[in-house]
Amino acid sequence: MLHTLTLLRQLNADEFTSGEAIAKQLGISRSAVSAALTRSGDYGIELERRHGVGYKLTQPIEWLDQSILSQYLNANTPFSLQLVNEIDSTNRALRQENAAPLSVLAAEWQTAGRGRLGRHWVGSLGGSLLFSVVWRFSGGMTRLAGLSLAVGIALARALEKKGYQDLGLKWPNDLLCKKGKLAGILIELSGDALGPADAVIGIGLNLRLSKEERLHADHAADLSDCGGPLPARNALLAAILNELADILPRFDEEGFAPLRSEWEARHIWQGQMAKLISPDGKENVGRIIGIAEDGALRMAGEDGLKVIYAGDVSLRKVSTE
Ligand code: BTN
Repeated sequence: MLHTLTLLRQLNADEFTSGEAIAKQLGISRSAVSAALTRSGDYGIELERRHGVGYKLTQPIEWLDQSILSQYLNANTPFSLQLVNEIDSTNRALRQENAAPLSVLAAEWQTAGRGRLGRHWVGSLGGSLLFSVVWRFSGGMTRLAGLSLAVGIALARALEKKGYQDLGLKWPNDLLCKKGKLAGILIELSGDALGPADAVIGIGLNLRLSKEERLHADHAADLSDCGGPLPARNALLAAILNELADILPRFDEEGFAPLRSEWEARHIWQGQMAKLISPDGKENVGRIIGIAEDGALRMAGEDGLKVIYAGDVSLRKVSTE
């Protein structure tokens, strides 16, 4: 079956493209074009259809494009990049394929995007970045507690260099702006406790959410909420990969300690009261006093200082008013 995204890529928002022209271009029938385009609503895409004239996008889409990305990636980039239209989850695919270190897989659309704590991650077609990177760490899994924090710094650096402001980090793996969560990081590890470990680092970033997506996603924000320019997807993906290529080797060599103060400077809950919820539902309330040198969260509770590793815990703010 012809993929709807292959067809949507033939359209633009400036002028109508005729079904006949698309059919000719792709060597298919006009009815196949029409059938595939009726599914565009499944991807949250509205089309303008004019009988006898053709189809037009209501909003332009900047598709990910290998040649544009190469213009923005550092010339010595270590990454080998694969772009796909649709996949269930870029994290799952790289893990299942046992993909080599430095592989990057970016998708326009995920049918089963995975979030932390077994949640789903929903992107928006043309309005998100959804990608995963494989990185091999020499020091083993026990040294990776601060990895999601280092990745958060890479995201913040890339966006701040592009002019986005008021970004904040929430332990262990969220990037936020004032209005809500902009990006999430899902890290899945395999390897030995002490020997080399491979990390699949999955990143989902909201560039432009539709009204419906804002309603469905709890506390989600997009880059239009962060006071920067209209985001260019290829340039932004390349900028993030450039930052990752800079920070990850250093993190492997030196650990999280040299990054701690930079992370804390963006920490949205530094010094605030928060509630820690364990997978069994147990709650601990305390004041967040910062991050340890290895990336653990330090919290002062009624029963003393607690040092918390990411695991499956989640964190909620406690109102002090
Ligand atoms: C979170 O829950 O905050 C983490 C979300 C991570 C989502 C990204 S999207 C690309 C990659 N593939 C997935 O299935 N998940 C991650």
